[in-house]
Amino acid sequence: MAVNKKLGLTALGAAMAIGLTACGGEGAGAASGEAPAATAAPEELTIGVSMPTQTSERWIADGNAVKSQLEEAGYKVELQYANDDIPTQGQQIDQMLTQGADLLIVAAIDGTALSSQLQAAADANVKVISYDRLIRETENVDFYVSFDNFKVGVAQGTALLTGLGVLNADGSAGTATGPFNVELFAGSLDDNNAGFFFDGAMSVLQPKIDDGTLVVKSGQTSIEQAATLRWAQETAQKRMEDLLTGSYADGSKVQGVLSPYDGISRGIITALQGNGYTTPLPVVTGQDAEIASVKLINDGVQSSTIFKDTRELAAQAVTAAEAFLEGTEPEANDTETYDNGVKVVPSYLLPVETVYKADIQSKLIDSGYWTADEVAKGQSD
Ligand code: GAL
Repeated sequence: MAVNKKLGLTALGAAMAIGLTACGGEGAGAASGEAPAATAAPEELTIGVSMPTQTSERWIADGNAVKSQLEEAGYKVELQYANDDIPTQGQQIDQMLTQGADLLIVAAIDGTALSSQLQAAADANVKVISYDRLIRETENVDFYVSFDNFKVGVAQGTALLTGLGVLNADGSAGTATGPFNVELFAGSLDDNNAGFFFDGAMSVLQPKIDDGTLVVKSGQTSIEQAATLRWAQETAQKRMEDLLTGSYADGSKVQGVLSPYDGISRGIITALQGNGYTTPLPVVTGQDAEIASVKLINDGVQSSTIFKDTRELAAQAVTAAEAFLEGTEPEANDTETYDNGVKVVPSYLLPVETVYKADIQSKLIDSGYWTADEVAKGQSD
């Protein structure tokens, strides 16, 4: 059982476990007065990794990166994808726990839907790391690894203004003054990140709506109106088609679309092309540097994306997992922002980068994230 491998060891078991741990036992001492935490060798431990879906390139990259880095560190890994289905994710996590997982890394589909599984994890002394999406409304989440999600939104709003020429790439005021017709898309409301992205974007766009530089012809400016359930490409395509029919049938044109995620961007682009828009298309933003969208950016179809290096995120998840399994606390760099409704979850947040066409080589290819060949094909090898 997980609990035996980590904390509640017998004296003999603990001695064996410490003996097996070549190093890394160093930092495992508990605060003075408490019994020292015993640790097992990585080879003795299994980490359950629960990812939302394989329909998106990014989660496949995340899953692969987390698995391979954990395996390199010696751990056994049980990686599962839940097909964007909430009950499936619950069942998969239940199963990981009954099979004796020692720690969980979870990117939730619905941030509030895993309470019973996480209670079971807590009862078994299994630590839970919330991966990129904050798990909400439970005490039983121990750490959060993500990016600075408000800044992602700021970067998306800024990229929209830059694409329109209202701002220059260096952030200074551009020459274009509009008014420009724009429409706004947000992510899935059950994902805590969606609000951060939208709020961040609106922090730069709302003043431009207020001063008349931007016009949202549909009038749909609330996150509820802009939301896209499960971040689904087809849902975004349908909404964009409806917006074009409903607000642009008079011959007016949309000039920019705020999109929070590359899959949504591709749905928007398909809708625009289906409605007769040709290159240069309206400015469409994105996120995740998914390979299909990097190709679209390279081809001058999509305007920008936000690059979040999933290799770095995976590395942070692994670092946090190692700390917990060695009986210490992972290092947080934010202990204020991510209140999950029950507690503020200590977090490690990574920085993000905006990618326009001119940045593909330096930010994505030179860093080894994608090869030039993959960018040309729009497919990963
Ligand atoms: C969010 C994540 C984004 C994007 C989106 C859709 O939680 O932060 O980067 O991947 O999900 O998958």
